[in-house]
Amino acid sequence: MNRRIELKVSLEVIQKKDWSEEENILISKASRILEMAHAPYSGFLVGAALLLEDGSIFVANNQENVSFPVGVCAERAVLSYAMGNHPKLRPIKLAIVAKRKGEKKNATVTPCGLCRQTINEYEVKFGHPIELLMLNPDGEILKASGIDQLLPFRFTDLNS
Ligand code: THU
Repeated sequence: MNRRIELKVSLEVIQKKDWSEEENILISKASRILEMAHAPYSGFLVGAALLLEDGSIFVANNQENVSFPVGVCAERAVLSYAMGNHPKLRPIKLAIVAKRKGEKKNATVTPCGLCRQTINEYEVKFGHPIELLMLNPDGEILKASGIDQLLPFRFTDLNS
């Protein structure tokens, strides 16, 4: 008999009045840095703020290129910088905020597939989930407890 493997995923929706102080800081830092994104081709500005275990916060935005695939997402930019400079500090939370150029309202955003796999890499490296905070256009945080909620059948192991 064939078997079926099912995984259940969920996101928590957190209204602004219930945001923690830390969530507030991360979302506002991501919102601020997206304004400096280099996104002349898509006009889609993304900011990411990463909290490390020592309390330090790093920010980055998307950097596009006239040769489109060369562009880098905000999430991978911030993870590469922070992990390159602080390889021993565990990443705790990653906030992501997006906006279309010229608009006031935020855009819906969740990390792309490449970024999901990159987030997975650092979860595996540190043996701990990274909480993901995504601002939606209604000003709520969509919170994923870890990348397993966005990438359920993820690739983690070359040897199994
Ligand atoms: N982008 C990000 O930086 N992060 C995401 O989570 C989604 C997409 C960027 C890539 C590209 O520069 C632009 O947004 C449009 O896809």
